[in-house]
Amino acid sequence: MIFRGALYEYIRFFRGRKIWLVLLKFCFWGACLYNRLSTRVIPKSLMLDTSTKAVVYGRHLDMITRMLCFDFLSGRDSSVAAVIDPGVARRSYAKVFFWEREIMIPVFRDFSGLPDDMRDMVLINFASHRSAPDVARAAMASGRFFLQHIVAEGIPEHETRLLIHEAKNRNVMLLGPATVGGIAAGAFRIGNTGGSLENIVASRLYRPGSVGFVSRSGGMSNELYRVLSRTTDGVHTGFALGGDRYVGMRFSDAVEYFEKIPEIRMIVILGEVGGTDELAVAEAIGTGKITKPVVAWIAGTFAEHLPHEVQFGHAWAKANRHLETAREKNRILREAGAFVPESYAGIESLIRDVYEAAGGVWFACDEPTDAIDAAIARLQHRRPTTFTSTICDERSVPVRYDGVPVSDFLSQWGLARVIGHLWLRRELPEYALRFIETVLILLADHGPAVSGATNTIITARAGKDIVSSLIAGLATIGPRFGGAIDASARTWYECVRDSISTADLITKMRRKGEYIPGIGHRLYSKFRPDDRVARLTDCVHELRQSRHLDFARAVEALTLEKKPNLILNVDGAIAAILLDIFGDIGMTRDEIETALDSGVFNAFFILARTIGLLWHAIDQRRLGEGLYRTAHDDIFYLDPSWSNSQNDV
Ligand code: ACO
Ligand code: LMR
Repeated sequence: MIFRGALYEYIRFFRGRKIWLVLLKFCFWGACLYNRLSTRVIPKSLMLDTSTKAVVYGRHLDMITRMLCFDFLSGRDSSVAAVIDPGVARRSYAKVFFWEREIMIPVFRDFSGLPDDMRDMVLINFASHRSAPDVARAAMASGRFFLQHIVAEGIPEHETRLLIHEAKNRNVMLLGPATVGGIAAGAFRIGNTGGSLENIVASRLYRPGSVGFVSRSGGMSNELYRVLSRTTDGVHTGFALGGDRYVGMRFSDAVEYFEKIPEIRMIVILGEVGGTDELAVAEAIGTGKITKPVVAWIAGTFAEHLPHEVQFGHAWAKANRHLETAREKNRILREAGAFVPESYAGIESLIRDVYEAAGGVWFACDEPTDAIDAAIARLQHRRPTTFTSTICDERSVPVRYDGVPVSDFLSQWGLARVIGHLWLRRELPEYALRFIETVLILLADHGPAVSGATNTIITARAGKDIVSSLIAGLATIGPRFGGAIDASARTWYECVRDSISTADLITKMRRKGEYIPGIGHRLYSKFRPDDRVARLTDCVHELRQSRHLDFARAVEALTLEKKPNLILNVDGAIAAILLDIFGDIGMTRDEIETALDSGVFNAFFILARTIGLLWHAIDQRRLGEGLYRTAHDDIFYLDPSWSNSQNDV
C-alpha cells in the first residue's frame, strides 16, 4: 500500500518525463498481469455480460425499448427475456422495437409462469413502493435471479432492511432501492441507466472500457461516464447504489465486485456527505483486499459550513457526526491509499494520471460513430405495426402456415394438418389428424331444421348476401347450439383436474340451475343414438389415455337415468376427445388452460358448420326462395288483458 502510494507520487514527479513513464508502465503491466492471474474472478453466472438476460416486473415498454436500443448498439441480442404483468389472465405478449425491428416479448402473470430455463437472470423490479417489497420477496423465492434491481423510492426503511437480510441469505445481489440501476458497457443495461441514446454514444457505453465506477446517484453516474470517456477508455461496469439510507449493494460491495473483474484496470468512486459506507472501501484498500488503484471523491465538502441538520438530496445525505463529513471521509480514503483530489475540479486530471499509470492505453473515447449516428437517424422512420399475427405469412412464396410451406400440406390429412399448425402450433399424430378431419366432415351440416341453418335460410330468403346469411347462422352458435364445446371442455377438464365426482358435478349444476354443457339433445336419445358421437370416439383408439372421455361417459350414464335424451352430444364428445388428445401430445397445463380461455374448442364446430351454412345460403338463392314469414297459427298471441291479470306468464 505504501509502496503503491509512493510509486504513484513518483508518477506525478516524473509525469513530464516520458521515458520514466514508459519504464513505470512496464512495472504496472507486470502488476496488472499478476493481478489478473491472482484475482479471484467472479463466476460467469454472476457476471453482467452479453449473455445476461432480464425479467422486467411491470409492463414498462418504453424503458424496455431503451434497453433494447442499448443491446442493438452493443451488438448483442435482446436482453429482456420476459415481462411480468399481474394484470394478464395467464400469458400474453408485448410488442417492442429492437432498434428498427419489432419483436415479441412473452408476458406472464407471475414468476411461476416463467419457463424452467429462465434462470440466473436479473430482475428489474419496477413495482411501486407499495408492492415492490412483496415482488422482491416473490422473485427471491423463485430462485431465478442472481441480481435484483429495485427502482421504487419511498419503501419504508424497515422493509428495505428485511429485504437486504433476505437477499444476503439467498445470495442475491440487491441493487437499490431508489436507484436507476447500473450498466455493463457494451453488454447489459439495467433500466434507464446511462440516460439518453445520445449520452450512451457520447460516453461510448456501447462498448466496454476498463474502469469500474460506483456512485449513489444515477445523474452523477452519467456525468462521470462522460468524464471517463474523456480521461480513460471508458467505463467497464458502473453501479448507482440509490439514495436511501439503507441500500442493498454498498460501495465496498461494488468495489470488491470490480476487483474480481480482470478487465477492470482501475476503480472510481463518487461518494456523498453522510453515512460511512465509503470508509469500508478505505478499509478494504488498507487491508489489501482491493489491489487496483482507486480514485475517490466524497462530494459535499461545503456542507460543513452549514448547520449539520441540513439534509441534501439523498435521504441519508446529512453528516450527523464528524466521521460522516465529506472532508473527513476524503482524508481517511487518501490515507488508506486511494487517490483523492484536493477538490472535485481536480478529479479529471487525477483519473487520467492514474489510468495511464495503471497501464491503460490512454485515448479519449473518440472513435468515429458515423455508423451509429446513421442508425440513430433511421429510428425516426420506424412505425409500430397495427396488427399482430403469429400463424400465417402470405408474403412468402409459397404461403407459410406456422412457418411450414403450404405445399407441405397437400398430402393426406392436409386440411387437418393445416389446423394443427395454425391453431395448435403442432405437427399432430395421424389419429389426431383423422379426428379433426372426422369432426369437419360430420359437423359440416345437420340439415335445415337446426336453429343456425334456419337463421341462414331466413336471412338468405330475405334477399341478403351470402356473407350476411352465413353470419346470421354463425351468430346462432352459442351455449345451446354448437357453441357448448368450450364450456363442456372446461367442465370435463376441471372435474378431472380437481377429481370432482360425476355425482358432485350434477348436484352442483342442478343447484346452480344450469345445464351440463355437452349433455342433451333435441333429436337423439339413448333409444336413438347420435351415430356421429360413435364415429368420433371410434377414430381415436390410439389415445394412450381417455380420462376426459371416460368422465363424460360416466356423466352421461347418470343423466340418462333422468331422461333418455340427456346423452353425451357431439359438443361434449368433441370437448372430451380434444382434451385427451391435447394431453397425449404433451400440451402443458398452461397451454390447455390458455386454449380453454381462447375459444379454440368451439372453433372446430364453427369451422365445420360454416361449410353447411354457406351451402344453405347458396341453396336458397339457387332455389329462388322468397321472403319467409311465420304463419299465424304457429305463434301464440298473448291477449294483453290476460297478461295484465296473470303475473306469471
Ligand atoms: N344438463 C342437465 N339437465 C338437462 C340438460 C343438461 N345439459 N339438458 C336438459 N336437461 C334437463 C332439464 O333440466 C329438464 O329437466 P326437468 O324436466 O326436470 O325440468 C329436462 O332435461 C328437459 O329440459 P329441456 O331444456 O326441455 O331439454 P331439451 O331436450 O330441450 O334440451 C338441449 C336439449 C338444448 C341440447 C339441452 O340439453 C342443452 O342445453 N344442453 C346443454 C348445451 C349443449 O350441450 N348443447 C349442444 C347440443 S349438440 C349441438 O348443438 C351440436
Ligand atoms: C347439430 O349438429 O346441429 C345438431 O347436433 C343440433 C341439432 O339440433 O340437430
